[in-house]
Amino acid sequence: MLTDATTATIDEPAAALENFLVTDEDLPEFRDMKFEDINQLDLDHPGASDEEYRERRDYIASLAKRFRETGVITDVDYNPREQRVWRYVTEELAELHEKHASPFYLKAKRDLGITTVRIPQLTEMNRRLKELTGFRLAPIEGLVETRAFLSWLSYRVMLSTQYIRHHSRPDYTPEPDVVHESIGHIPMFTNSNFADFSQFIGHGARIASDKQLEELGRLYWFTVEFGLAEDEGEIKAYGAGLLSSFGELEHAFGDEVERRPFNLEQVINMPYDYSEMQSILYVIPSYSYLKEVTRKYIESFGKN
Ligand SMILES: [Fe+2]
Repeated sequence: MLTDATTATIDEPAAALENFLVTDEDLPEFRDMKFEDINQLDLDHPGASDEEYRERRDYIASLAKRFRETGVITDVDYNPREQRVWRYVTEELAELHEKHASPFYLKAKRDLGITTVRIPQLTEMNRRLKELTGFRLAPIEGLVETRAFLSWLSYRVMLSTQYIRHHSRPDYTPEPDVVHESIGHIPMFTNSNFADFSQFIGHGARIASDKQLEELGRLYWFTVEFGLAEDEGEIKAYGAGLLSSFGELEHAFGDEVERRPFNLEQVINMPYDYSEMQSILYVIPSYSYLKEVTRKYIESFGKN
């Protein structure tokens, strides 16, 4: 998920629009990642008044900062309580996934070794992603500005948090956590069309005007976070905000939600409220379709 600020932070030349094999040499140095503002734990966070939780979150966040100095990802030695939170949430979600997630997503979780048993490490998922689609995960200590976050996708890099939500509210987190990233986002990067589509969003973010960046934020919201896709005559979820939340996932398939055919023009102009359950969702016919309409849209940037 994203914050609202719109400051550009990557100055290096972009990898070409269709460079789907971003090499180590193409990547900017992670130590050059600069962020205007990285969200700290908010007062409305369920762990806000739990000193021990705050310390632990800060410690795991410090590993992400260390990554930027060394370029090396440190595996987190998750403690038994954190593992229990993971098991609880993923077991609850597993049943809903069987019902509502696309078969592709279910396979992707298996391919990446994401199970209900223990919290997966970014390093192990990176090894598999490298073989499958060349996508990479880089640790980050919190929410960053929209443009900076999205821009890294142009290098097939997703910034991922490693800490986990507070144990008092395993069903809820006001900020991205390892459940949201690993259960919601990361499996989809094993799909090459989805990975290429994500990269196009990244390219777009680097050259977008502020208004276009807002549009891209909406496209991201209604696809990457809350997207639905047609799958053999059925509607299935592929958005991370749906797949990582039992409330949202059940709600998405309920009667109160209008599920519309995807329309790019409509999506980029559709306001949303991140604090409410979604009332309108968009269904894509396929990931290759999403990739192609996004490519054309990004190619139009700078032309008008
Ligand atoms: Fe997200």
